[in-house]
Amino acid sequence: MKLWVGLCLVLLCVELQHGACQAVKRRKHVEDGRNRSDGKRVRVRQPNPNDRKGKGQSLLTQVLDKGRFLRLGPSTGLSPGKNLELRCKGNSIGWSYPTYLDTFNDSRLSIKQSDKYSQLVLTSPSAADTGPYSCWVIVCDGTECQKDHDRTFLSYIYFTDRDNLFVPSAIHFEIVYLRPDKPAVVPCRVTEPRAKVTLHREVPPEEIAANGTLVTYDPTRGFVLQQPSPEHQGVFYCKAVFKGTPQISTKYQLLYVEVPSGPPFVSLEASPESVRGGDDVNVTCCVLGEPEVDVSFTWTYPGQDQRPVHIQSSWRLVNRGMGHTTRVSKSVLTLVDLETIDFGNYVCTAKNQHGETIVTTRITAS
Ligand SMILES: *[C@@H]1O[C@H](CO)[C@@H](O)[C@H](O)[C@H]1NC(C)=O
Ligand SMILES: *[C@@H]1O[C@H](CO)[C@@H](O)[C@H](O)[C@H]1NC(C)=O
Ligand SMILES: *[C@@H]1O[C@H](CO)[C@@H](O)[C@H](O)[C@H]1NC(C)=O
Ligand SMILES: *[C@@H]1O[C@H](CO)[C@@H](O)[C@H](O)[C@H]1NC(C)=O
Repeated sequence: MKLWVGLCLVLLCVELQHGACQAVKRRKHVEDGRNRSDGKRVRVRQPNPNDRKGKGQSLLTQVLDKGRFLRLGPSTGLSPGKNLELRCKGNSIGWSYPTYLDTFNDSRLSIKQSDKYSQLVLTSPSAADTGPYSCWVIVCDGTECQKDHDRTFLSYIYFTDRDNLFVPSAIHFEIVYLRPDKPAVVPCRVTEPRAKVTLHREVPPEEIAANGTLVTYDPTRGFVLQQPSPEHQGVFYCKAVFKGTPQISTKYQLLYVEVPSGPPFVSLEASPESVRGGDDVNVTCCVLGEPEVDVSFTWTYPGQDQRPVHIQSSWRLVNRGMGHTTRVSKSVLTLVDLETIDFGNYVCTAKNQHGETIVTTRITAS
């Protein structure tokens, strides 16, 4: 192991300027220390299994003062406030960075491509910019371009801020859905990977111990509950301690949902069921599903494009007891003053990210 690290350093020294090499050596040292205290390496592989191949020859570098460069490893600790400049070698480079920067269309971020490299600059970074920064070579075959997975490099950058041990979030009260079939994440990420982080239930006050199996902590993701169950419901927060007073994260409402992922489960009914010409009728298409799964509705009906109808779609969350939460999505088609043309089949198509379901009901004259 020692020999291997030594060899790498020698190779890097040959390649890099003297100053940069010093920096690399220092960094290695820091990393080993961190590894000792929090087992960071375990998670480092998770974000991108592909960057392993590129390890040791990462094209992702940080531009230091005086034109020196530092090749970035899987994680990097930086101070907030000081402008960040990253470079990635190649004449066609793609980047990814914390989505937060896109959401707010942040003008602090700029990306420039030149002949030899692409440059990403983030001015006045703060604790909130903590996250994965990644670049990759784009390969093109004619007009079709794609990411070269073997030449994708990632560094998780911590903008360590003693006043913000938790990565600040725009949301003050987040909802985390627990499902029986997949791990859930309480996303209290930290800006200092050496901080000691614990998970707490508010009522009754209780610490949920991370014991390395069912509950684990990953500074780049938060607390991971491997097998969520209804007992994990409630209001939670995280607490972080690092050389000073403990800090508390935002609050998280954990809700248990049991609806499996799949195309929507749809019901369709006309009210009233029995109608005559001149009556009013509501045709209601209703979907019960997972809280955060969007459902869209489309209708086909006999008087389409000929008769004015009113269609209103909406959704709400319903607590169905035993702590199970369901999203009720609805589309109501309203017909006023039925005419002969309105009798026939009403078809509702409900679509979510997993698929679509089509249901039909018939309106006949009684
Ligand atoms: C550091 O991480 C390596 C690689 O996962 C591991 O083999 C080693 O035991 C770790 N060192 C300590 C002191 O935990
Ligand atoms: C984001 O900012 C750029 C440049 O400042 C502007 O051209 C673009 O329209 C903005 N996009 C959104 C969604 O606001
Ligand atoms: C971890 O905690 C869970 C319950 O919180 C328990 O079921 C499990 O046995 C524990 N695992 C170990 C290795 O202690
Ligand atoms: C249709 O739905 C609307 C809104 O819920 C309601 O006011 C109206 O009475 C309903 N009409 C019929 C015929 O059920």
